[in-house]
Amino acid sequence: MLRKLLLCMAGFGLCLSQELKPGACPEFTPKTDFEVTPYVGRWEEIARFPTKYEEGQLCNYAEYGDNGDGTVSVHNAGLEANGTFTEIFGYAELTDVPGSLALYLDGVPFAGSYNVLGTDYVTYTSVYSCLDVLGGRHIDQAWVLARHLLTDQELEVAFSNFIRWGIDISSFELTNQLNCINLP
Ligand SMILES: *[C@@H]1O[C@H](CO)[C@@H](O)[C@H](O)[C@H]1NC(C)=O
Repeated sequence: MLRKLLLCMAGFGLCLSQELKPGACPEFTPKTDFEVTPYVGRWEEIARFPTKYEEGQLCNYAEYGDNGDGTVSVHNAGLEANGTFTEIFGYAELTDVPGSLALYLDGVPFAGSYNVLGTDYVTYTSVYSCLDVLGGRHIDQAWVLARHLLTDQELEVAFSNFIRWGIDISSFELTNQLNCINLP
């Protein structure tokens, strides 16, 4: 689900349809005691900042695995609006900043940032990516992923990880996860 965003970040031309937000990226600190082992496994996408590229996609999920060498395998998948299965593979590398990973996806010749702002490992994770662009503005992406569908209260906890850093959660759109067949 990150591929198009990353392609967008590779060249400003591709970003024209992406909303430029005023000001620099917000200051934030990813989860300082982040651990990979309990984080791996499957996460459903509950909410995302909408982009033209993910428009209409549904049933999105991510699967992470511990490669045991400081990298995490990444498999993102979902359905296009017309029902076509779509997926991409890659890996994420731990960085010196706890909770901040460098994300490499197949076909994308550079790293994206994957910041875990908060997770309890068993319910939700709040993920944020931001890029400062020319003109003192920024482009950001955010996801709430979860082990199962979230209650309103659980979603509020996930959102609070963004609110804490002044990230406007009104940009979030809920991902359609209803009637999703068992995808591979
Ligand atoms: C479904 O949508 C995707 C993305 O827009 C497109 O690439 C694909 O060709 C479409 N497939 C069909 C069968 O319409």
